[in-house]
Amino acid sequence: AVFLTNVCVSCVCAGGLGQLGIGLAQILREQYGSENVILSDIKKPPSHVLNRGPFVYADILDYKHLRELVVNNRITWLVHYSALLSAVGEANVALARKINITGLHNVLDLALENSLRIFVPSTIGAFGPSSPRDPAPDLCVQRPRTIYGVSKVHCELMGEYLHYKYGLDFRCLRYPGVISVNTPPGGGTTDYAVQIFHDALSTGHHECYLRKETRLPMMHISDCHRATVEFMQAPQCQLSLRTYNIAAMSFTPEEVAQEIRKHLPHLKVTYNPDSVRQTIADSWPVRFDDSNARRDWGWEPAFGLQELVSDMLQSIRNKRATDGLSIS
Ligand SMILES: NC(=O)c1ccc[n+]([C@@H]2O[C@H](COP(=O)([O-])OP(=O)(O)OC[C@H]3O[C@@H](n4cnc5c(N)ncnc54)[C@H](O)[C@@H]3O)[C@@H](O)[C@H]2O)c1
Repeated sequence: AVFLTNVCVSCVCAGGLGQLGIGLAQILREQYGSENVILSDIKKPPSHVLNRGPFVYADILDYKHLRELVVNNRITWLVHYSALLSAVGEANVALARKINITGLHNVLDLALENSLRIFVPSTIGAFGPSSPRDPAPDLCVQRPRTIYGVSKVHCELMGEYLHYKYGLDFRCLRYPGVISVNTPPGGGTTDYAVQIFHDALSTGHHECYLRKETRLPMMHISDCHRATVEFMQAPQCQLSLRTYNIAAMSFTPEEVAQEIRKHLPHLKVTYNPDSVRQTIADSWPVRFDDSNARRDWGWEPAFGLQELVSDMLQSIRNKRATDGLSIS
């Protein structure tokens, strides 16, 4: 393992204030100590984040500053979460190219120069209409038609190239759509699967921007975090690949609505497909084959659809009660 001599990890999580970074930092801090995990982003952190451990401003496009951060803090692991997601990227291709591709080159160079173990997530968006969709295996044709997908394929290939050529400890998981309560999603195509729970408990009505039969791979955020930490900790000798699919469940808007109705029978869902996000979703896999992750490093999800729905409704109820909001 690439740990520091005192067997702890000094890690920086860039783009850490988004949907996934805050929770991942919390888990890593529980295991390695809060001082050893630095969160960075270009956004102002909320006070509950500032109180829990080090936070620094770092623009992924500012290579010299990133290098200073890594050197001064004797960083050994880097988690690169900064990105523009699928729908946001299509609305701003030039910026997506900068953040998702130039930003990636910066962190890969940094990792190579400083012998960092580097983790960068990929996505179902790294596949396209010519990929096998049910299920999508780890290795197959990848011709995505979004800048987000193109940048993620580029990331997978660059990371693997640098691994095989220079021994860079690059690790990459293709996440499904991630579902969370405490941190809002950042403009992906699977965001509806978070909003539907909030709507179910507030107005009782959700207007879905995807068609009701659109099936996509999804995952509870705690499974996503656990997969990330377990994969980062796996000994190199167990990894036959550098980029793995991870799966938990696949559902359509209608199926998640039906499951929510077992708890809240009054939920009404109407469908008003948005052409950009529907086209993106139609080009993505409906299921992931994650058998390699299960075999190589023991990946196993804890949440299926039933568990996800119960947990989301309970967590949102608690949150609304704490915030003094009514529950429908
Ligand atoms: N959330 C999902 O469902 C999902 C699914 C698959 C893959 N992923 C991947 O996981 C990673 C994290 O996703 P997320 O959902 O937390 O995204 P998010 O959009 O919620 O957060 C991304 C963060 O990057 C930051 N950022 C933007 N420009 C930056 C810059 N120039 N320098 C530094 N930071 C910058 C943003 O401020 C934001 O906090 C991304 O790489 C994404 O592609 C997410």
